Amino acid sequence: MEFREEGEGEPVSPTGQYFNSSILSVAIFAVLEFEVPINDSQALSLIQDVFLPINPRFSSIMVSDNADQKKQWQRVEVKLEDHVHVPIFPSKMSPQSYDEYFDDYISNIAAEKLPQNRPLWEIHIFKYPTSHAAGTLIFKLHHALGDGYSLMGALLSCLQSAENPSVPLTFPSLKSSGPKTTHKTKIVPQFFSSVFQTVSDFSWSILKSNFVEDDRTPIRSGEDGVEFRPITLSTLTFSIDEIKLIKNKLGVTINDVIVGIIFLGTRIYMQEITQKSSNEHCTALVLFRTRNIGGYTSIKEMIEPNNAKTTSWGNQFAFLHLPVPKSTEISNPLDFVWEAQKMIKKKRSSAASYLTSWLLDVLKKFRGPEGAARYIHGTLKNSSLTISNIIGPVEKMALDNQAVCGLYFTAVGAPQCLTVTALSYMGKLRIALGAEKGFIDSHKLKASMQNAFGVILEASNQIPPAKAA
Ligand SMILES: *[C@@H]1O[C@H](CO)[C@@H](O)[C@H](O)[C@H]1NC(C)=O
Ligand SMILES: *[C@@H]1O[C@H](CO)[C@@H](O)[C@H](O)[C@H]1NC(C)=O
Ligand SMILES: *[C@@H]1O[C@H](CO)[C@@H](O)[C@H](O)[C@H]1NC(C)=O
Repeated sequence: MEFREEGEGEPVSPTGQYFNSSILSVAIFAVLEFEVPINDSQALSLIQDVFLPINPRFSSIMVSDNADQKKQWQRVEVKLEDHVHVPIFPSKMSPQSYDEYFDDYISNIAAEKLPQNRPLWEIHIFKYPTSHAAGTLIFKLHHALGDGYSLMGALLSCLQSAENPSVPLTFPSLKSSGPKTTHKTKIVPQFFSSVFQTVSDFSWSILKSNFVEDDRTPIRSGEDGVEFRPITLSTLTFSIDEIKLIKNKLGVTINDVIVGIIFLGTRIYMQEITQKSSNEHCTALVLFRTRNIGGYTSIKEMIEPNNAKTTSWGNQFAFLHLPVPKSTEISNPLDFVWEAQKMIKKKRSSAASYLTSWLLDVLKKFRGPEGAARYIHGTLKNSSLTISNIIGPVEKMALDNQAVCGLYFTAVGAPQCLTVTALSYMGKLRIALGAEKGFIDSHKLKASMQNAFGVILEASNQIPPAKAA
């Protein structure tokens, strides 16, 4: 998955192929909110001079060279006017009206497929003031270009620290949280790949077995083609300090707290809708990076192509299948967090509960890339939601001296009615909920997540400090 500088004839990574197959097409949206209005002529030159050079894939299209389904990146001329869109709306409206225009706009572009005959990205400049920002940049990037982590790294590399532009952006260090897990996650796939031949029958049976479809619930319609339906994207914000408070009281990781809150919020929402306690079978696919798990400290380290430890660009992640705890089996809201911690710990050390590039390689061998894509599609479709979490910079960022006041991301195109993503920035955690329009009540869902956070925060306050780890 290394890339050569010129990007010419570079093969598309297997994961990149799965995400652009006949059955699956997933795109990542990153949204940057600015304190002051966006100057589009300035934005265009930044795209040309800063964004495009980050990676040759931003100037390449995917071509299949022969019958064996192998795809390659081929460099092409980029016509900026095809990729940069500046929608026009009535002027002098209230921020609340522009919120509605913005929501509709993002919902529309989320439903559109990126054309195959030009590089797989688009940038949309929303120049009107919403209740969140004076101007908003939306990046739509195909998942075949890289995973959320490398794409986010690419975006962040265009930005500088707002206080002092010469200082690189920094990330909170993750290294203290759970060195043991780090170790295991790295070892498991390697160990298995080294005895690949002898276990391939065994792993084929893992792939064929053991995941039954989730129940139909207020967050899972179970219907075909949900990936083509419009979504509503809404966001909410939590304080990282408060999340840390919970983390310290409970002796878990920040990620465990986030997953626990989303689990509880999901159950609260389902209960609100059905008006009875929620004990349906409901599985979340929780995404983990499988690379550089200790965390990055700078953007440079994040996007460095030939990082000594591991190649950081590309698609490298694993899904863990985590059953969302049933309301009927839990009395204390904190159990949602503890359950999340227990399951993540257990599953991270067991190869069978992964959906990794290693397992997919086995599949690719038996069924080709299209077969592997079908499997990913089936796995997503049988579960209820995906959760992924990215750590962003601590200090305020700026794009060419324009301060960024907020950012978040989401993924669209998965056959699921609900996608939950979280991104930290400047002491805040922004949760984005991508929910099927007309099927999920976004306002209620957002309120349920907020409620879950409040309940967990309050319950953790009741724990005497002595019990803290
Ligand atoms: C992805 O690949 C398929 C064929 O494998 C193609 O039909 C489709 O248009 C591609 N593009 C996108 C953006 O999904
Ligand atoms: C926008 O940017 C261009 C180029 O940098 C500059 O010439 C122009 O004055 C700017 N416009 C405003 C309104 O700031
Ligand atoms: C999804 O669920 C169906 C029905 O329960 C099952 O036949 C299929 O194998 C499952 N697919 C995956 C990828 O787990």
